Amino acid sequence: MASSEVAQAFAALEAHKRQISGSRIPDLFAADPQRFARFSIAFDDLLFDFSKHRVTDETRGLLLDLARAAKVEARRAALFNGDPVNGTEHRAALHMALRNLGGAPMRAAGVDVMPQVIAERRKMEAFAERVRNGEIRAANGERFTDIVNFGIGGSDLGPAMAARALSPFIADHLSLHFVANVDGADFADTMRRVPVETTLFIICSKTFTTLETMTNAATARKYVAEKLGEAAIGYHFCAVSTQLEKIAAFGIASDRVFGFWDWVGGRYSVWSAIALSLAIGIGRDNFEDFLRGGEDIDRHFMEAPLDRNIPVLMALLGVWYRNVFGFATHAVIPYDQRMARFSAYLQQLDMESNGKSVDLSGAAVTRATAPVIWGEPGTNGQHAFFQLLHQGTEIVPIDFLVAAEPIAADAKHHEILFANCLAQSQALMQGRSLAEVVSLLESQKLSPDAIKALAPHKVFQGDRPSSTFLYRQLTPRTLGRLIALYEHKVFVQGVIWDINSFDQWGVELGKELALKLGPIVSDSGLSTEGLDSSTAGLVEA
Ligand code: F6P
Repeated sequence: MASSEVAQAFAALEAHKRQISGSRIPDLFAADPQRFARFSIAFDDLLFDFSKHRVTDETRGLLLDLARAAKVEARRAALFNGDPVNGTEHRAALHMALRNLGGAPMRAAGVDVMPQVIAERRKMEAFAERVRNGEIRAANGERFTDIVNFGIGGSDLGPAMAARALSPFIADHLSLHFVANVDGADFADTMRRVPVETTLFIICSKTFTTLETMTNAATARKYVAEKLGEAAIGYHFCAVSTQLEKIAAFGIASDRVFGFWDWVGGRYSVWSAIALSLAIGIGRDNFEDFLRGGEDIDRHFMEAPLDRNIPVLMALLGVWYRNVFGFATHAVIPYDQRMARFSAYLQQLDMESNGKSVDLSGAAVTRATAPVIWGEPGTNGQHAFFQLLHQGTEIVPIDFLVAAEPIAADAKHHEILFANCLAQSQALMQGRSLAEVVSLLESQKLSPDAIKALAPHKVFQGDRPSSTFLYRQLTPRTLGRLIALYEHKVFVQGVIWDINSFDQWGVELGKELALKLGPIVSDSGLSTEGLDSSTAGLVEA
């Protein structure tokens, strides 16, 4: 149940929105030459620019009042203290322990988890290094050349996204592949590109029951046994899960099994052994740099005052647009091709966490929760959906992400990429008025009739908000920082909406029905009676 302080803070924001409705973002820049300096935060070599928003000093103050009313600081302390913040599953959410390289005690249910976290990380990293340097070899004695990860959701998206983001850091002699979908095409198409005799398969599943992953793993086991013989299984498989006894039943030796804990949510598991494929690919030092990036942001989130706290401000801006303006979606557009899967990764992080309609007490929420998160890399998006962003009737707040310097890519290309990123946020904010369009068309010597017909189509309303994350280079540490920023943003929004960001009951019903429908789909002899006519009709067809 939202507190009356939160309701008051929202009421103040709504009144404030009406007051500032006459001023547009370009006006805010015109009135304040220091706006960029005052509405941006540098964190080491990462810069968060939130100046291109419908936000004044007063707005920021009112948003911070909302954070205080929602008791963000107390709830943040509860998160880091290992309190059971995931109430419906009676669990802590302590993924920060996985990147706590300093090793200071962190407790879940009162027990310091760091000794087990450190021991498991050492075991995983040692295995990864030995695969990488060729000490651990395939059944035929050759070095592994390919790693295939079976997993879905958090057991796929994190390592798959990061492997792509950090591709220049992956050893040249290794290729990483990710099979998630139960659609057999995913497995079949991957295996067409992969030499089975030098491929290591990693089965990643927190629960070790997920239908997709178990189906793919069973198919792969059969495939390897057929191609290389049953004795090869022990050489070619390893597994990551919280359910170690279930792995034993699959026939994988314990020294190839890596664990994590129920206080790590699937969508927060990229910091755990779930990223074994990534650790093999990029090596121990880079993997630890990735963790260090997450740890950097944990410290910032804990220590920075709310008004200089990047994830807190990201969250508040999101709430401002989602709840006060009613904008239903939020785009994340990396001008960074290697971040092509970042928006997909954030979809799970944000929408599985905050796509909720009841609050912590089980009562219906009174305000909208998570926006739809979406996005594709720039500049590609410019030639696809940017038309709507500039001139459509929906306003979409955007996060632009861009590196100052490329890694292993042409500098001239990067200049063009970078200029495009800035041009888009500038165009979205500034727009182009009817008067400007008319004068432009007049300068092109169009007839008055032609100008009258064409001008409305060339008007850009502008005043469309965006943040820009500028980082020096997309290194493992930068990627770790970016992910952790979004994790804590999602957490803060969950606090403001008073929802449980750490459960995901909404995925269960579909799973349950798929299990019931499975036998009916497989066996045309089984009756479809009792099914709705659409489902029955589709099965029969
Ligand atoms: O169905 C949703 C979900 O439970 C996600 O939260 C999770 O990341 C994914 O499935 C995979 O689960 P597991 O790692 O247990 O296979």
